[in-house]
Amino acid sequence: MRKFNSDDIAASTLPELFDLSGHVALVTGASRGIGLASAALLAEAGARVVLVARDEGRLALAAEKLTAIAGADRVHKYSCNAGSADQVDDTIGRVMADLGRIDILVNNAATNPYYGPMSGLDMPRAEKTAQVNMLGPILWIQQAWSAWMREHGGVVINVASIGPFIVEQGAGMYAATKAALIHLTRQFAAELGPGVRVNAVAPGLVKTELSRTLWEDREDSIASALPLGRLGAARDIAASVLFLSSAASAWMTGHTMVIDGGALATPPIGVIGPGGAAVSRAPGGVRQWTR
Ligand SMILES: NC(=O)c1ccc[n+]([C@@H]2O[C@H](COP(=O)([O-])OP(=O)(O)OC[C@H]3O[C@@H](n4cnc5c(N)ncnc54)[C@H](OP(=O)(O)O)[C@@H]3O)[C@@H](O)[C@H]2O)c1
Repeated sequence: MRKFNSDDIAASTLPELFDLSGHVALVTGASRGIGLASAALLAEAGARVVLVARDEGRLALAAEKLTAIAGADRVHKYSCNAGSADQVDDTIGRVMADLGRIDILVNNAATNPYYGPMSGLDMPRAEKTAQVNMLGPILWIQQAWSAWMREHGGVVINVASIGPFIVEQGAGMYAATKAALIHLTRQFAAELGPGVRVNAVAPGLVKTELSRTLWEDREDSIASALPLGRLGAARDIAASVLFLSSAASAWMTGHTMVIDGGALATPPIGVIGPGGAAVSRAPGGVRQWTR
């Protein structure tokens, strides 16, 4: 990864700050949603992109879309369970053999197999959530570090969530793994600098498959409760992933960027809002103003 010292940054032009040509970016969970949008933007910035997901058919479709943007020689795909140590090891080995470097790692793959109270959480689903959302990113960082980044530097972006900053009924285990990911971001940043920068993004509600049950049928009411009046699009998050991958963020490590349409800027339940309206919770869990 090209190093930007203070003099380089002072002299850099806008295109230079965001130019990723010559770099390889590996994105887990890249066959749709935020991962695919991030891979697309990194490819638009000049990177060769490595798409990782489990389903080969969906991966092929994603690669086809990106090939139209970047050309076939800059798009590569690998079927892999991002939470399996053996598969991560094997995939990193194949990527290094095929492409020879990994400059940017986006830990985006995640799962939420259980939606309900913590009192009813079963251990198989708890373990799966931890394996993919928390242990997987550790494995990818360790492997990318020893295969390339320790010697040549690099950038890691972990895709967390605003879940750890609130208490949402039903998603406790998922949020706990994302809270761990935010801490791991700081921990790895402290351990892997100065060669490797490690940051995270924390999206609010983005219209993807993963979150479909949360927004389908009540998109308008959720949107109207947000200061920015709409749900997120995958490319909203991808733009932050691009920023954190690029020299534009060269003096930033260990942090979590919140991109949530203002969700965390809404008043908590029970607080009096504009015109004396109180904030309460509608049946679907959406905050709303009531008089
Ligand atoms: N959407 C939101 O509102 C929201 C909010 C906050 C945070 N996030 C975070 O954003 C990230 C992306 O979510 P998304 O909403 O874009 O999800 P999505 O549209 O459901 O896409 C998930 C991607 O991850 C892949 N994937 C899932 N499990 C995997 C595994 N074990 N190994 C490898 N790949 C796996 C899926 O492909 P396969 O199934 O084929 O593997 C797919 O490509 C996640 O970390 C999520 O927690 C999303």
